[in-house]
Amino acid sequence: MENIWNAILNLKEAVKAFNSPIHSCWINGDTGIVHINKTPSDSNNHILILCEENRPAKLAAVTTFELTAAGNVTPIQQIGINEASILFLKKYLPYCFLSLKAQRLNRAVSISHFAQTLDAKIATNTGDSKWIGNAENLTHAHRMRAICDGVLVGSRTVEADNPKLNVRHVYGKNPVRIVLGNPKSDFKSLLDCSDEKILVFGKEKIIVQPPLESIVLPKKCQEAEIEPLAILAKLFKLGIHSVYVEGGAKTTSNFVNSKAIDILQLHIAPMIFGSGKASIVLPNIEAVQEAISFKEYNFLPFGDSMMFTGFLS
Ligand SMILES: NC(=O)c1ccc[n+]([C@@H]2O[C@H](COP(=O)([O-])OP(=O)(O)OC[C@H]3O[C@@H](n4cnc5c(N)ncnc54)[C@H](OP(=O)(O)O)[C@@H]3O)[C@@H](O)[C@H]2O)c1
Repeated sequence: MENIWNAILNLKEAVKAFNSPIHSCWINGDTGIVHINKTPSDSNNHILILCEENRPAKLAAVTTFELTAAGNVTPIQQIGINEASILFLKKYLPYCFLSLKAQRLNRAVSISHFAQTLDAKIATNTGDSKWIGNAENLTHAHRMRAICDGVLVGSRTVEADNPKLNVRHVYGKNPVRIVLGNPKSDFKSLLDCSDEKILVFGKEKIIVQPPLESIVLPKKCQEAEIEPLAILAKLFKLGIHSVYVEGGAKTTSNFVNSKAIDILQLHIAPMIFGSGKASIVLPNIEAVQEAISFKEYNFLPFGDSMMFTGFLS
C-alpha cells in the first residue's frame, strides 16, 4: 500500500500547486507519478479521478473514481485492482482535493477526528483517553496529519496527553502544529519531536521563541473564545489549506457549533464508559429535524472497529 500512499501524497501537493480548473487526475500506483488534466501515454497501473460533474459517455479502461459535490471520492469502475487498494483509496483520496474547496471559501478546510466509545465518550472523567482507538486508527491519524497542512488541538489536550502531533508511524511531512489557548504545561512534547512550526492562537500575545509563534485574533464580543471561522481564515492566509482538528471536546464542539467543521471522522471503539467526557456537546435542540445531518457519509472498516466519515458542508 505504501506506493499508493506515495502517489496520494504527490496528488495532494500537485492539486494544491495547480493554478487552473482541474478536470481529471491520473495517479500511477507503482511510481507515484501524477498527471493533472493530461492522459498519460501509458495508462498501465493508473487510477483516474474525474473531478467534474459531467461523466464522459465512455470511460477509459482503468480504475476510475469521481469527486462528488460533497467532497467525497467514490469508485465508479474497478479494473485490475484488489479490494484492499480500493478501500485504501476510498479512505484517503477525498483529502487530496481539499485545497480546491479552501480556495473557493478563502479559509482552511477542516476535518475533525475523534476516537470515541459506543456511548460517544472520548476520555474518562479523569482525562484518560489512551487508547480508545485501535492500532489502525493511530496509523490513520498519522496519515491524516501527513496529508493535511496543519493539525490543531486545544490547550487542555496538550496538558492531558502531551501529544507529539507528528507523522512518526507513516511516510510523509510533519504538519504545522496549531494550539488554541494557553496550556498550563509547557510545549515540551511538541518541541521535542518536530522542527515544524507551532502556532499558538490566543486572546493575548505570549512571549515565545521559534518554532513557536503567538497569534492573537480578536475574540467574539462578550465571549471567551476566538471565532473558529476566523482561525480558519487566518490559517488560509498563512498557506494552510487543510487542518486536522484532533480535539478535545471543547475545541471541536466550538468548531461544530460555528459550522467550521467540513468533514467529521469518528472512530467507534467497541467499548462503553457509561460516564466520562462526551465528544461533541452543543446547545439544546428540541426536534429531531434540528439535528446536524450529512450530505454524504460512509462507515469503513478499521481493523476490529470502524470509522464513520461524514461530509458536512
Ligand atoms: N479520544 C480522542 O480522540 C481525544 C482527542 C483529543 C483529546 N481527548 C481528550 O479530551 C480531553 C481534553 O478536552 P477538553 O474539552 O477538556 O479541552 P480541549 O478542547 O483540548 O481544550 C480546551 C481549551 O482550548 C482553548 N480553546 C478551545 N477553543 C478555543 C477558541 N475557539 N478560542 C480560544 N481558545 C480556545 C481554551 O484554552 P484556554 O483555557 O487555555 O484559553 C480551552 O479551554 C483530554 O482528556 C484528552 O485526553 C480525546
